[in-house]
Amino acid sequence: MKKHNFSAGPCILPKEVLLKASEAVMDFNGSGLSLVEISHRSKDFVAVMENARSLALELLDLKDKGYKALFLQGGASLEFLMVAYNLLEKKAGYLNTGTWSDKAIKEAKLFGDVVEVGSSKDEKFTYIPKEYSVPSDLDYLHITSNNTIYGTQFKKFPKTDCPLVCDMSSDIFSRTMDFSQFDLIYAGAQKNMGPAGTTLVIVKEDILGQVSRKIPSMLDYQVHIAKDSMFNTPSVFAVYTSMLTLEWLKNLGGIAAIEEVNEKKARLLYSEIDLNPVFKGYANIEDRSLMNATFNITDEVLKSTFDTMLKEAGINGLNGHRSVGGYRASMYNALSLESVGVLVDVMSEMERKG
Ligand SMILES: Cc1ncc(COP(=O)(O)O)c(C=O)c1O
Repeated sequence: MKKHNFSAGPCILPKEVLLKASEAVMDFNGSGLSLVEISHRSKDFVAVMENARSLALELLDLKDKGYKALFLQGGASLEFLMVAYNLLEKKAGYLNTGTWSDKAIKEAKLFGDVVEVGSSKDEKFTYIPKEYSVPSDLDYLHITSNNTIYGTQFKKFPKTDCPLVCDMSSDIFSRTMDFSQFDLIYAGAQKNMGPAGTTLVIVKEDILGQVSRKIPSMLDYQVHIAKDSMFNTPSVFAVYTSMLTLEWLKNLGGIAAIEEVNEKKARLLYSEIDLNPVFKGYANIEDRSLMNATFNITDEVLKSTFDTMLKEAGINGLNGHRSVGGYRASMYNALSLESVGVLVDVMSEMERKG
């Protein structure tokens, strides 16, 4: 039976990417050797790393604009710490829009003063704060563009005089925008790029080197830049698979092309959520995420029937995050419109039964 994978991450990747990646595990570039058993310093792997870094900048339209792309390790969670290590001298601002920003704030507090410029904690992170003012003396302002757990997403970004840092883990490469409004973007690979194990960091070089503390080499962006993202052994499989996904996206027509599909998928699902009395959306309508749609079932008695119907339709990964409950449909780039159609059919069938 065909599976429809709505998992929040690690999550669905394009089939052709998985196929090519699995071929490379057995025989990389016809060398007779596996991708995972050759030196990361070999000509073939250095080319992979260079291509992956270059594609990332190209797709975001950040080439020749003073940015560097790095593929690091430690997940987005290590970036919570590295951002502050590298940029926080006195005071940083954070917009708190959920669990992930909360975690980033906790790490930053180890390095200096942290101001919560805005927060949606009062309403269980169902919305994106809009009424706030950014202090003029910040070293940087940090935001989380898409809140994977609560299903909210920034549609407009704050204008700042200080560097703007964005955790884009769950919506990078999914929608068009002017990416040059950010000075540092980071994203764990395991949503729109590849398997877990590498984190893409895009950083404008001129914001670095301004803190007075000593930074351990592995946590220093400048060290990774100087070594072309090969200071230590990179996560070769995750970087290679990410490169394949970025190539897949480029061949589709880039971010603008996938954005059209992502908008169609989100429109289809949200209109079902809004019209079907069995379900209720979680997030504020204007702040809804195109990537993670969160919703509840209005009558808990119907839950086990719905869960059985989901299983019978081959739908996987629809449970909400354990901290929120309910349901969450993650519609990352590789998920087809057809899969969303299958989910919507099950939801309307549920209405007939309910
Ligand atoms: C927005 C966001 N930030 C950070 C993280 C943490 O990422 P990692 O597990 O790669 O550290 C996640 C994980 O889902 C996330 O969705």
